[in-house]
Amino acid sequence: MLQTSESLSRLGTESAFDILARAQTLEQSGKNIINLGIGQPDFKTPEHIVEAGIKALRDGHHGYTPANGLPVLREAVCNDLHRRHNVKVDPKNIVIVPGGKPTMFFSILMFGEPGAEIIYPNPGFPIYESVIKYSGATPIPIEITEENNFALCADTLLSLITDKTRLIIINSPANPTGGVTPREEIEKLVVGLEKHPNVAILSDEIYSEMLYDGRQHVSLLEFPQIRNRLIMLDGWSKTYAMTGWRIGCAVWPDQLLEHITRLCINDHSCVNAATQYAGVAALTGPKDDVKRMVHAFDTRRKLMVSELNKIAGFRCADAAGAFYTFPNIEATGLSSKEAQDLFLNDAGVATISGTSFGHLGEGFLRFSYSNSISNIEEAIDRIKRVL
Ligand SMILES: Cc1ncc(COP(=O)(O)O)c(C=O)c1O
Repeated sequence: MLQTSESLSRLGTESAFDILARAQTLEQSGKNIINLGIGQPDFKTPEHIVEAGIKALRDGHHGYTPANGLPVLREAVCNDLHRRHNVKVDPKNIVIVPGGKPTMFFSILMFGEPGAEIIYPNPGFPIYESVIKYSGATPIPIEITEENNFALCADTLLSLITDKTRLIIINSPANPTGGVTPREEIEKLVVGLEKHPNVAILSDEIYSEMLYDGRQHVSLLEFPQIRNRLIMLDGWSKTYAMTGWRIGCAVWPDQLLEHITRLCINDHSCVNAATQYAGVAALTGPKDDVKRMVHAFDTRRKLMVSELNKIAGFRCADAAGAFYTFPNIEATGLSSKEAQDLFLNDAGVATISGTSFGHLGEGFLRFSYSNSISNIEEAIDRIKRVL
């Protein structure tokens, strides 16, 4: 029997991938499955981005690049951050990584160890809690509530900080809830954090271009008083429908740059060159496709929230960002996991149990509206029939 490390037994997973596999198995056995579980845009990567990747390969960009990313790409990221958030960032503080996930993995490993505490949203993206546990640190959940429209409550978060807190993780717009934290709450948080200068902040802003009803994204980069300990995670996966290309980036503070560069060199050396050129084209090219995708998500979101609210036992808050809704299903009498399995097996609709995003997700289900209007309508009809 092989003896693997004890820490490995503490590593969790992202159930969305399990559900995807189960849905595919059912499809192979001839069942029609509508996938509302998936956390990726159902659009293709815009053509000019694909072409830039192909051109880079044809032009012979086949070798290693600097571990922190191509200079031309880091420059493009800074220009884009300036355009979107009106902030100045030096390209030396940008580190390009293979997706959004590596930034969270490396940040948590940098601060997590036995005895340390890391605060993270629950329900929240499952990888936060998984990697915190893997690191040996104690995960301290901040409850994200339906009553607060799934926004972060600054006072609650600040009340959880102790002298053991090393890192806090926040995420807006949020997965799985679609919640958006308003400016006044972010400002309150920043004021409170000034009293805790030794706490690092990981702000996961990967859905920052997906907000609806005129809401504006507030980036933590806007606050110079915390920039020396802020890691701002961003990426191409969601905004440019590039989940399979594996590219992401983060703004790192000066004091962590050497650590993150070493972690990248030890882990993956660099992101493949063609993908980085595609990333440049995404940031510097036309934005019409992004606008079209966000507009389509908004139309589906309105339909999905209104239709989910018509299902007996469902109560769905008005999701303000990302491409997820997180209805409360307690009144159906089913647990989250029972509802997930019933809808997958009997209705042919893949959704994800709220508990996949932490124990505080019990009573909820995550629906992604990254699917066509007709499929969303059909899925909701099927759920009604099964219930
Ligand atoms: C909140 C959040 N952060 C990060 C990621 C990771 O993105 P990537 O696929 O680029 O690693 C996801 C993906 O679902 C996410 O929902």
